[in-house]
Amino acid sequence: MSNAPPETTPFFARDRERHPPAYTPGYKTSVLRSPQRALISLEGTRSEITGPVFGHNILGEFDNDLIVNYAKPGESAIGERIMVYGRVLDERGRGVAGALVEFWQANAGGRYRHKKESYLAPLDPNFGGFGRAIADVEGYYCFRTIKPGPYPWPNGVNDWRPAHIHFSVFGHGFAQRLITQMYFEGDPMIWLCPIVKTIPDRHAIESLIAPLDMNASIPHDLRAYKFDIILRGRRSTLFENRLEGN
Ligand SMILES: [Fe+2]
Repeated sequence: MSNAPPETTPFFARDRERHPPAYTPGYKTSVLRSPQRALISLEGTRSEITGPVFGHNILGEFDNDLIVNYAKPGESAIGERIMVYGRVLDERGRGVAGALVEFWQANAGGRYRHKKESYLAPLDPNFGGFGRAIADVEGYYCFRTIKPGPYPWPNGVNDWRPAHIHFSVFGHGFAQRLITQMYFEGDPMIWLCPIVKTIPDRHAIESLIAPLDMNASIPHDLRAYKFDIILRGRRSTLFENRLEGN
C-alpha cells in the first residue's frame, strides 16, 4: 500500500453515451437484473471513501502468476503462455500507486474452476484461474497466465464469450471498486458477443481490447498483452459497475 493520502474527491458520473443501458434484451440476464424503478442517489461517506485499506503483506509470492499458482510443484498450466501488464492511471495519465488489481479467468479450454460451471471442456488440474497484484509507484501491474479459451453460454442458441479476463480494481477504500473485462486484439468473437454488443460506443469497446505487445514479450517463453486501466476521464476504461448517481 502506498503512503499516498486517501482520495476524497467526489465520484464521477457514469457517461451514458459510453456505458450500456441496464436493460438490454440481447443480453438475456439483463432483463431480470435491470432496475424496474428510478434509482436513488446516495452520498458517499468519508468512511466508505477512505477505508478500510489493505497492505502489501496480504499478497502471496505467486499471486500474480496464474501459470504456477495452482500447479503442483514443478508443473504448470496448459495453454498459450502470456503476460498481461499495464498501468492503472487517473484521468491526467498519472499512475495510481497501490491499487489492488484482481483477475480471474477460464482455462485454455474455456472452462472455469467453479462448482456451477457446466461446460464440457476439461478442467486443468494445474490451473486455478485467479490472482492479484498491487500497482507499483508508477501504477504498473503485471501477471503471467495462459490465454483463456472462449466458451459458450446460455443466452441465444449459439452465443459464445470471446476470450477474456475479468478484472477488479480497488482504490484506497472498499467503496472504490471497479470491475471490467479485458479482451484480446484480433479476436473475431469480440464483435459477435451479446454482452459486448450492449456497449453503445465503439471506442469504449476498444478500450477493453489489449493489444499484442511483442516488445514486452520474452523470446521462447511468452507473449505480452498490454492493458492500461484508466479510471476516469475521456479515455477511461469501461467499467461494469460505475456507481449510479455518484
Ligand atoms: Fe467470464
